[in-house]
Amino acid sequence: MSKDKTPRLMVIGSINIDLVADVERLPREGETVQALGFQQHLGGKGANQAAVAALAGAESVLVGRVGDDVFGPQAVQGLERAGVDCSLVTTAAGTPTGAAMITVGRRGENTIVVVAGANGTLTAADVERAAAELARCDAVLMQFEVPDEVVLAAADAIARLHGDEGDAGRAPLFVLNPSPYRASAVPPPGTVDVLVVNELEAQEMTGLPVETAHDAAEAARRLLRTLREGGHVVVTLGEDGAVALSDDEERTPLHIPAMNVQAVDTTGAGDTFTGALIRELCAGRSMAEALRFATAAAAVTVTRPGAQSSFPRRAEVEDMLARAPEAAPLDGPRR
Ligand code: RIB
Repeated sequence: MSKDKTPRLMVIGSINIDLVADVERLPREGETVQALGFQQHLGGKGANQAAVAALAGAESVLVGRVGDDVFGPQAVQGLERAGVDCSLVTTAAGTPTGAAMITVGRRGENTIVVVAGANGTLTAADVERAAAELARCDAVLMQFEVPDEVVLAAADAIARLHGDEGDAGRAPLFVLNPSPYRASAVPPPGTVDVLVVNELEAQEMTGLPVETAHDAAEAARRLLRTLREGGHVVVTLGEDGAVALSDDEERTPLHIPAMNVQAVDTTGAGDTFTGALIRELCAGRSMAEALRFATAAAAVTVTRPGAQSSFPRRAEVEDMLARAPEAAPLDGPRR
């Protein structure tokens, strides 16, 4: 793909209203704590990644569903303001819009409980209805806040395009961010092109402990074997940055440290990283360049409250890039 092409990305995923309580510290099991404040934001992992991609300069199309309550139109209008094409977002009758109950502590750390609502009514038929648009896209991004059958139908639709691929044909990259993780939604081996996981998901998917960058590289080696040829695994490690491993000749893990910023709310940081990373890869950037852009974008997000309310425009990421570290081979010298 040539550099600087405007990529066209499809996200098939969740749309939520985030109900956020700011707390001094996250409650322990069985404990009640008093909130310091309450906020309502637009969220949902699918909607978030679609918004980030649009703000970073992609044509971004979302396939999803909202409820027929007051939140549905609010969520769609917010996404449209970010530049997301919502023509494939439908409304479920008699069902509430998806919601997330979020607590955010003083250091920006959080807990999230997701209520599926209308996201739970998406079906394989919605993927089929989006098939013509899907075939025009450079990448299709999915998370696990929608039913298993939706993830599996997208994997199948893309696999069919690979099967049909003649000289002129091409299939979008299938990008999986399996969050919240459940084994039943994992697509068959050889169907995913880019897997973006945090340390917990990497651990669950491999059974290996994932605490350090070297652990992440080991997990990435294991996970890379389950992807389509030429695939990429990226393991995010919070304050320890991220590790990427690509199925290229070198197979050298790249590591990028996180940026040192004053975090107020980490909600949506993973979505920012994923949406920005895929926008850049699809615009023809190298993995090292895409990791650096995604790291800078996520660093902006954590300095502001909420999910979609915190996502940066491209110019803001470019300002942050001046301070961003380079990705380097995990055991190599760092500039
Ligand atoms: O990844 C952050 C998102 O997770 C929040 O916006 C919330 O809606 C949940 O989906």
